[in-house]
Amino acid sequence: MSLVASINDLEQWIRGEFTVLNTELEEIYFGAKAIILDGRADVDALTRRLVRDGGSLISEVTEHRELPPDAGARYELLGMVGFYLGACRRHEVEPDQAQFAPLAQALAASLEVAPRFSSAHQHIHNRAVAGVFYRFTTLDSERIFLTYNGLAVMAYRRAAHALLSIPTLGVSNPLATYHFADAVAALRDVVHYHQLLADELDRDRFFYNIRPYFKSYRVGAREFRGANAGDFAAVNAIDVLLGLCSPHDSFYQWVLADKYPYLAPEDQIALRALVTTESLLDLLVRELEAGPVNPPLRENAELFLSACKQHGAATVFHHQKLVIPYLQEPAANVSEERQSDMTASGPPLADVIETLAQLRDLRAARQRPGLVTAGAKLDRVRVLLGRSADG
Ligand code: HEM
Repeated sequence: MSLVASINDLEQWIRGEFTVLNTELEEIYFGAKAIILDGRADVDALTRRLVRDGGSLISEVTEHRELPPDAGARYELLGMVGFYLGACRRHEVEPDQAQFAPLAQALAASLEVAPRFSSAHQHIHNRAVAGVFYRFTTLDSERIFLTYNGLAVMAYRRAAHALLSIPTLGVSNPLATYHFADAVAALRDVVHYHQLLADELDRDRFFYNIRPYFKSYRVGAREFRGANAGDFAAVNAIDVLLGLCSPHDSFYQWVLADKYPYLAPEDQIALRALVTTESLLDLLVRELEAGPVNPPLRENAELFLSACKQHGAATVFHHQKLVIPYLQEPAANVSEERQSDMTASGPPLADVIETLAQLRDLRAARQRPGLVTAGAKLDRVRVLLGRSADG
């Protein structure tokens, strides 16, 4: 059998039977309100089938010792192998490393990414066939989560594209007004999709049946952290262009450094470019101080402040209406030994939430002891526009 035919067989299985087996298992767990069930014959039989069938299909691809020449096809194949491994981790079974690790490592080396699926495999690189994209289950809750998560990512990407188009125009350019206004509208869309997610996604379904597929798993000798909805570059491009976070700040450097291997290759390039990007905030302060405050500069500065406000609102919503109710609150009822399983990145949940709170306060430019935010510079813009500092 050719390499293409082996990959095709794997794809058919991942898009079909794989989702059916996962869904059957999820319905059993959910019926018992359990994250996992030990010692049940029906669960064991379904899990064994999943590990065996997926393992042998991946093994056939591995045995070719050859990769697709097209980078997009390699990234998609890494996603398929990764979905299988994510499911094995979720059902707490050990797949045979010999069947998949050489393939996953070769794909990852050729693409310069971690040898696992990442959230990009679920949104920007998720090729649909006949109206259906790759997913783990056929559960409606998973469809809701992936759809609104994907739409929020796309809105972030649209905002980043708009802001990235401004430096070459200059912040007092009347043409830049179009991009500023587009960024504000796109960031408003992020909040809108977050809101729809919070309205439509069932909390228990997310906690018991969706979240567990995003955990860390091992490839070869190393454990790779889980998939995280924040693993795309646009959100950081917005942070840096708005001047809310700095690639010269050690906390933010750590946030960026953690992300690189989990980003799609083109997003890694976008992230790297941020290190030498001057913020629109600095450009605005400079022009406003030099004066005079001409009408396009004034309009652009007002739109810039609105963009900062929307970016802050999106991050506060994410924290208060997604992270706390969908993760922190249900995790409080989970047994002590399962607490370490609660996050995608590995550290204890309380540490992850604290890091997120720090990011939130930077993005929202909130005053907080021990944290230097862009709050003072934003006040300076307001004063230069003749507004009160907090207006
Ligand atoms: C039920 C829904 C969601 C929950 C429970 C959730 C939870 C989390 C958690 C726990 C983290 C920290 C990751 C870690 O270090 O382990 C995180 C990060 C993040 N998530 Fe979400 N999230 C949700 C939906 C979304 C959506 C829809 C988006 C929109 C694209 C999003 C964007 C982000 C961003 C941007 C980060 C920060 C990463 C960074 O900037 O470095 N999340 N989320």
